[in-house]
This record gives sequence, structure tokens and C-alpha cells, in this order.
Amino acid sequence: MIPTVRPRRLRSTPAMRRLAAETRLHPAELILPAFVREGIDEPRAISAMPGVLQHTLDSLRRAAAEAAEAGVGGIMLFGVPAVRDARGSAADDPRGILNVATRAVAEEVGDALVVQTDLCLDEFTDHGHCGVLDARGEVDNDTTLDRYRAMALAQAEAGSAVLGLSGMMDGQVAAVRDALDAAGHQATAILGYSAKYASAFYGPFREAVDSQLGADPSSTGDRRSYQQDPANRREGLREAELDIAEGADIVMVKPAMSYLDVLSDVAAVSPVPVWAYQVSGEAAMIEAAAANGWIDRRRTVEESVLGIKRAGADAILSYFAVELAGWVR
Ligand code: PBG
Repeated sequence: MIPTVRPRRLRSTPAMRRLAAETRLHPAELILPAFVREGIDEPRAISAMPGVLQHTLDSLRRAAAEAAEAGVGGIMLFGVPAVRDARGSAADDPRGILNVATRAVAEEVGDALVVQTDLCLDEFTDHGHCGVLDARGEVDNDTTLDRYRAMALAQAEAGSAVLGLSGMMDGQVAAVRDALDAAGHQATAILGYSAKYASAFYGPFREAVDSQLGADPSSTGDRRSYQQDPANRREGLREAELDIAEGADIVMVKPAMSYLDVLSDVAAVSPVPVWAYQVSGEAAMIEAAAANGWIDRRRTVEESVLGIKRAGADAILSYFAVELAGWVR
């Protein structure tokens, strides 16, 4: 008689399931995205992101220390400036909020966390686009690269160890690598947001950074001319390959949960680490359903991030990073 194949043997007890797990989460591979706002005395809530704050410099320091304490691997900083203009001048100003905050966090946590910064103009421009606009109101690729070079130097000088290039301009990795090397910042790493899609899941983030996108009637209110079309899978791999060829130290797929196929494709061939970003709208869906009692919050958070890891992510940016680190360690 042919014996029945019984996969259930390895699911029979908690100890057996623990031993047989193919994937597990570790705090060191989690990265906390954090927002710091210029000119406020108290941290501010973000209505579409329960539990996430627009920090003051002081509360950001404390949040970074808490993340380090929890064993989280890194923090990704986003700045919300008090004043915006067409070229995003605050982005490369050493006194700009993101650069000031980077110095403060680097001083606070030292080597206990990898301090990283978002390198993009959307938080700093008065039109809300990720680059500077030409006379027709289109995002001008190569003029924007000059702004990214300047931002890169300001961020490296402020103490950022990893620059997160999230603007989706062509050639941005090569331009920033060149600027860093020419200024002696060989040790500063580049995280290419390589396969970044024009996603509705960024909705709550726009509130988190007070994005001005769409407020200016002379330019479009979306990013579809530079972020990728959600319909395209092969193109995600191509973007990652281009960034690797330009010198990216890490590549990213973003958002994560609706793009696990792209993540898996990139992870299968990438010679450099592959990260994924569980974005604001992905977190918001979980929070909203959990608040309604429709899903179990902790189990859903764990399962969602485990799924991203299983698909091939080496590290994950998640608004749940600190809480999750406490659960899995
Ligand atoms: C661009 C940037 C965005 C996010 C991270 N970096 C917004 C966008 O591209 O529109 C979104 C992150 C999130 O939704 O959590 N600076």
C-alpha cells in the first residue's frame, strides 16, 4: 500500500511549526519611516495614519531612541518644511528641517540605528512634484538631477548613511553617486527606490508630509509621468537592473503588498539587497479594518510583513516596525 503523504505532520504542534518555518522576521531587518515637521511645539497626529506622528525634533529623537531600543535596524527620515518654493530650496539647505533632524538623530542614536533619509523634492516644492518643472509645467528630468546632487551632499554632510532616492528620475542613481564620490562621500550608500509605482496607496503619506500636489493648477496632480504604471511587471525588473548598473547599493520595490510579483522577480536576480516598503495606505487598510473589529490587528500585521519577506525582501520599511520588533524578538 502506498503510504499517504502527510504534510500535516510538520504542522502538528507549536514547537514543530516553529522549527519548520521557512521564513522568520527579525527586528534588525525592519526600518521605521518617520516624519519631522518644522515649526511645531508638540507632535501632531496624522488622521489617516493612526499611531504615526509628525514629530518635533525632540519627539523624533525619542522615537529614534525607542526604535534603537527595540532592535530595529534603521530609520528613514522625511522632512516637512515650513516654507516651500518651486525648486525645493529647503531640501539642500543645511538648516532645512530634514538636514537638521538627520544631525539630531545621528547624534542621538550613534551606531545603534542606520540613519537614512528620503532624497526627493516632493516634500519641499510648492507644487508638490518630485522634481523641478519646465516652462510647460512638466517635471524636467535633468534639471532635477542637479537638485538631487545638491540634496545628496547636504544629507551626507548631515550624517545620513543611506540616501533613499525616491524621485524616479532617469539616471538619478548615477548622478548622486557621482556627486557623492566627487565630494569625498564614498561611504554613503544609495538605496534606489527602483521599482516605484504611481500608487493610490500613498494617499495617507500625502497628509503626513502636507503635500502640495494638485494644489497648483498649472501642473498635474499626479506622478504618472515619472512613477511606474501599476500594469507593468517586466518594467520593474528593468528599473532595478538599471539602478544596479548605475551603482545602487540596495534596490527597493514599492508599494509592497500589491507588488509581490515584482519583488519576487527582482529578488530572484539582484546581486544587491532588495528592500520593500509597506506604504502608508497599506498600513491604513490594516488599521481601519482592525479598528472596525473586522480583522485581528496583530496577526494581520505579522502576516502582511511575513508575506513581504517570503516574496524576497531582505529588509522592510514599515510603520509597524517598532511594534513588530517587540513581537518577533
Ligand atoms: C516621495 C515618497 C513618497 C512616499 C515615500 N517617498 C510619496 C510619493 O511618491 O508620492 C510614500 C510612502 C508612503 O506612502 O508610506 N518622497
